Amino acid sequence: MSASFSNKLIDWYRQNKRDLPWRKTKNPYKIWVSEIILQQTRIEFGTKYYNRFLEKYPDVKKLANSSDSDLMKIWEGLGYYSRAINMLKTAKIILNSYNGVFPSKYDQLILLPGIGDYTASAISSICNNELQPVVDGNVLRFLSRMHKIDLPIESIKTKKYFKKLGFRLIKDVNPGDFNQALMDYGSMICKPKKFDCKSCLFSIDCKAYNSNSVENYPTKKKKIKVKERYLNYVVVVTDDNKTQIKKRDGSGIWKNLYEFPLIETETQTSAKHISKELDLDFTDLLSVKRINHKLSHQLLHIAFFVFRANNKIDDLVDINSLINYPFPRPLNKFISELV
Ligand code: ADE
Repeated sequence: MSASFSNKLIDWYRQNKRDLPWRKTKNPYKIWVSEIILQQTRIEFGTKYYNRFLEKYPDVKKLANSSDSDLMKIWEGLGYYSRAINMLKTAKIILNSYNGVFPSKYDQLILLPGIGDYTASAISSICNNELQPVVDGNVLRFLSRMHKIDLPIESIKTKKYFKKLGFRLIKDVNPGDFNQALMDYGSMICKPKKFDCKSCLFSIDCKAYNSNSVENYPTKKKKIKVKERYLNYVVVVTDDNKTQIKKRDGSGIWKNLYEFPLIETETQTSAKHISKELDLDFTDLLSVKRINHKLSHQLLHIAFFVFRANNKIDDLVDINSLINYPFPRPLNKFISELV
């Protein structure tokens, strides 16, 4: 399917491509400007900035000699200002180390500040005919639907998978046109929500379309529901420096580890409430310490209520001997500050 897919896509592109100012040039400096501006920016919005940018900085030398504040004035409103800072850094490198000639080879581009695989692939394919597939959000969405690929879009592994797939598809075609065709098809036809499968040229071969599951692609990382729990530990301290501990029973988190007497509540609770619950005298409260502890599926809001107490309590152990008992990590931390 790959050669016919790629040729069909390029045919579509040549008839339907958007008339964008950077498509009239193969100057790597200008292509670089367009690709950096278009990251995280909509095409219609980015086009205005592209024109203004090149009016002020028609070549890399003019940009390299700009001041931070002049550049920021041009960039104002685009956001992600680190893009502009990196552009200035790169322009200075080009002026000083590349004789002012902007490179168009992937291997040189990828070494420059602010240029990653996407930008290096776009510039080198468009300006130097290199077989470097681009992987952006539009490409990922389109190809993940075509091939029904169940990998979460956020992960680096997924990008690598699509890059590999792209290498297969770009093999025998004009790489600059192919890359831009993929991006245009993703943003014009294979849209995130308003996908237009009826007019799509590839629905016959689209695995997601054929299984009625286009809206499920691309897949996102499954969000693990984090349960919030409120664990209130009552730490009694007797006159002879003892405290009460209990062994947790054999289920749930921290099984068989030791802990202080526990009152679990639905929300955060106060020392007053705890003292009432256990029939302790509130005036015996010595301190309250609250910490949060994250487990993979739970967020624990842990509170330690330290009360002075008399000796008529069961299960008392020397506070100095607590280090000999196995405690959960967040309790150990509290104990190390207590002894
Ligand atoms: N998005 C970013 N760069 C693009 C390009 N060159 N063509 C289409 N969409 C893009």
